[in-house]
Amino acid sequence: MMDSSVKIINEWDIVAARQLGRNVAKELGFGIVDQARITTAISELARNIYLYAGQGEIIIEKVENGAKKGMTIISRDAGPGISDLRKVMEDGFSTSGGLGAGLPGVKRLMDEFSIESTLGEGTLIQSVKWLR
Ligand SMILES: Nc1ncnc2c1ncn2[C@@H]1O[C@H](COP(=O)(O)OP(=O)(O)OP(=O)(O)O)[C@@H](O)[C@H]1O
Ligand SMILES: [Mg+2]
Repeated sequence: MMDSSVKIINEWDIVAARQLGRNVAKELGFGIVDQARITTAISELARNIYLYAGQGEIIIEKVENGAKKGMTIISRDAGPGISDLRKVMEDGFSTSGGLGAGLPGVKRLMDEFSIESTLGEGTLIQSVKWLR
């Protein structure tokens, strides 16, 4: 099992996280369409960290669950947190004038998605893509 993480502090780190994700996805045997889904999800999560939390990290893990293999993407920050999780999961909700497609998009692109956030403490988003 291999874990790696990229600290997100500036915009270049978003690119680095994407690249790491693509490499791990390739190693696991994901096809190019799933590689694109995974790297898009990582970009959205990393960009949210950069924009709203200031800094945080993207953690990428290979996972094995019985016969299933896949990849976990974790986004973790100690930023301001999200006050209304239900609202941010609605398409089109943005506090920054963005499209508000980011988090609902990540949920659609990945197979599993969970979000925990506490105001004033930060946000933890875990998602998994299974290899099939
Ligand atoms: N890591 C985070 N910490 C604090 N708030 C966050 C975080 N990620 C998202 N948010 C909040 O959730 C809202 C929705 O995020 P989402 O990525 O879905 O849309 P967006 O970033 O506003 O627009 P888009 O991603 O389409 O450019 C954001 O506007 C922001 O208020
Ligand atoms: Mg976003």
